[in-house]
Amino acid sequence: MKYITVEDMGKITLATLKTDNPLNPLNIEILREIGEAVSNSRNVVVLNSEGRAFSAGADIKNFTKMNANMAHRFASEGHDIMNGIASADVPVIAAIHGYALGGGFELALACDFRVSTPDAKLALPEITLGILPGFGGTQRLKAIAGEGRALELVSTGRTFTGQEAKEMGIVNRISTDHMEEAMELAEELSEKPPLSLKYAKALIRAPPDEFYEDEKEKFGVLFESKDSKEGFDAFLNKRKPKFKGE
Ligand code: COA
Repeated sequence: MKYITVEDMGKITLATLKTDNPLNPLNIEILREIGEAVSNSRNVVVLNSEGRAFSAGADIKNFTKMNANMAHRFASEGHDIMNGIASADVPVIAAIHGYALGGGFELALACDFRVSTPDAKLALPEITLGILPGFGGTQRLKAIAGEGRALELVSTGRTFTGQEAKEMGIVNRISTDHMEEAMELAEELSEKPPLSLKYAKALIRAPPDEFYEDEKEKFGVLFESKDSKEGFDAFLNKRKPKFKGE
């Protein structure tokens, strides 16, 4: 694998993301590798990353080259990979530091448990780009945090800390040593009977509701808007976007 290092630590698999950019923007190749690392593991997986971020989200540079069809395909494959993680037989723990934004946060939401540093910065900021989350984030955040919070966080794109995420129940545990905490949780889970863990996950993590399919359709449609072009250009040129509702 090019972007993921997989370490077999006996009862725990440590999967570490590292890309050329220390903010770890995600493309489909990286997501495929993460999906593969999870599906190949028969142990509890701890997914973490090197650099300044768990991940700052989907690669916005690639967005400028996508039309609506390409965006829909991108979201569809992203959905499949996230579903693969959410329905894997083994528990998957996201160990978050730095930033977990957009697709990076959606990846953490697809995992079963989230352990974070208190000062990590989390958000679904897609609305600030003129689009919306496209990897299941709208539905998973709603399931984890409730409708009111999900609607607020998706509609404002507001960034919140790991500490706030813990208070909202979005993150399970926080620690300044997030890796130690994540490994402790992984150890605890690795002592449990695997079949019971597998069934607990299958029973509690109900499949996303009917709007899950809608999400990838809408993600594609938003790429046809002038506002999304404006959002991508504004981010890449480090300026404030001017949305016109077109
Ligand atoms: N996709 C592509 N490139 C990204 C990126 C992303 N999601 N996030 C950051 N980068 C790039 C920046 O364009 C910049 O590139 P440059 O050096 O060529 O200018 C580089 O990474 C460093 O980012 P910068 O914004 O200068 O760092 P910062 O420390 O000031 O801010 C963030 C860090 C994470 C707050 C900021 O980069 C950010 O908001 N990123 C986008 C988050 C987002 O909207 N994600 C959702 C995508 S759907």
